[in-house]
Amino acid sequence: MQQGWIQQREATAPALASPVHGAVDAEELAALGLDPTQVTVFSASVNPYGPPPRILQAVRQAVTEQNLARYPDPECRELRQALARHHGLDPTWIWVGNGSAELIWLLARALGAARQAAVLAPTFSEYANGLLAADATLLPVSLPGWRWTSAGHFAPEEDDLAPVQEALAQAKPELVFLCNPNNPTGRLLTPQEVQALQRAAPDAFWVVDEAFMPFVAQPWTAAEWLPTGNWAVLRSLTKDFGLSGLRLGYLLAPPSVIQAIRALQPPWTVNRLAQVAGLAALEELAWREASLARLRTDGQVFRSVLEEAGLCPWPTDVNFFLLPMDDPARVRLALLRQGLLVRDATSFGLAGFLRLSVRRPAENQRLVQALGQLLLNRPG
Ligand SMILES: Cc1ncc(COP(=O)(O)O)c(C=O)c1O
Repeated sequence: MQQGWIQQREATAPALASPVHGAVDAEELAALGLDPTQVTVFSASVNPYGPPPRILQAVRQAVTEQNLARYPDPECRELRQALARHHGLDPTWIWVGNGSAELIWLLARALGAARQAAVLAPTFSEYANGLLAADATLLPVSLPGWRWTSAGHFAPEEDDLAPVQEALAQAKPELVFLCNPNNPTGRLLTPQEVQALQRAAPDAFWVVDEAFMPFVAQPWTAAEWLPTGNWAVLRSLTKDFGLSGLRLGYLLAPPSVIQAIRALQPPWTVNRLAQVAGLAALEELAWREASLARLRTDGQVFRSVLEEAGLCPWPTDVNFFLLPMDDPARVRLALLRQGLLVRDATSFGLAGFLRLSVRRPAENQRLVQALGQLLLNRPG
């Protein structure tokens, strides 16, 4: 059990006024004299080809006086019907949120309050933040391939399920958050691996965050296990469709869990334009597939050019990857001064890594050049 990781989360989570994420920080840019529209964002892993024209058109058409003046459907019925058809589920198994981040916090409160909850880490910070805010007891468990060190960060470890299973069996959590594929490591666990982990904590309710599953070449979903009653699956529409500013995500879970979430969610958090965008997105699955296939090719080129420049991008299953880097904070700031925003992975508990997302080819090329120059001119 990595007590240090818990303490680190406890120290940072209450200070939620300034959570660390990959989004553009207007204040930081202003201090550097940068115009936000001129900054290329490699720090938030969003499809750079989105949003598709059909969504833009649907949202533009929905900007009418009446639509803006009237309250949206607080139950997102039409969108849930469409999602139900897409997933082959009854709408009672689906709930929509203002981004999947809202649903993470609602799940933490509904299922984690005063309970023992495990987070497989290093991972996205909002599971721990939501759980700590809900007064859950946080039981951090390292993901396969990682261990928490006495130096106060995660370090790479042999990629083995056994110690993770052992830690889960010992922790006996009532709730588990698993990000698959995982942010920030980009690693996808197979169905067999996830099942093997679940067998080590069979009494827990398992929440699998599949925000980045559409980016995987051969995606799979834990949604097929929903009927057992022990699983929930989170999906986001903000990354694959490029809707991070609009906010839209959904939860697939047994109706009892959906009811618990509903009871905690303020009404109308999903606005009408987001609901319209969600319906249009479900008509644009072919666009998503084509643009993400293109992005995978862009990613292969990006990574091989980084390798040619003498850098060592880590393997990934998605549209972002870790890049080992001495002094990532310094490199991030130097790149930002040139209008290139990357993520220093220190806030994930990782020391010595940047996390880069894949963007369009010319943008990727610009980043490689800037990095090459920076590292060549590094003071000895
Ligand atoms: C793994 C993961 N899940 C969920 C989210 C939240 O996504 P959203 O609230 O935009 O749907 C993020 C955002 O970065 C993420 O990285």
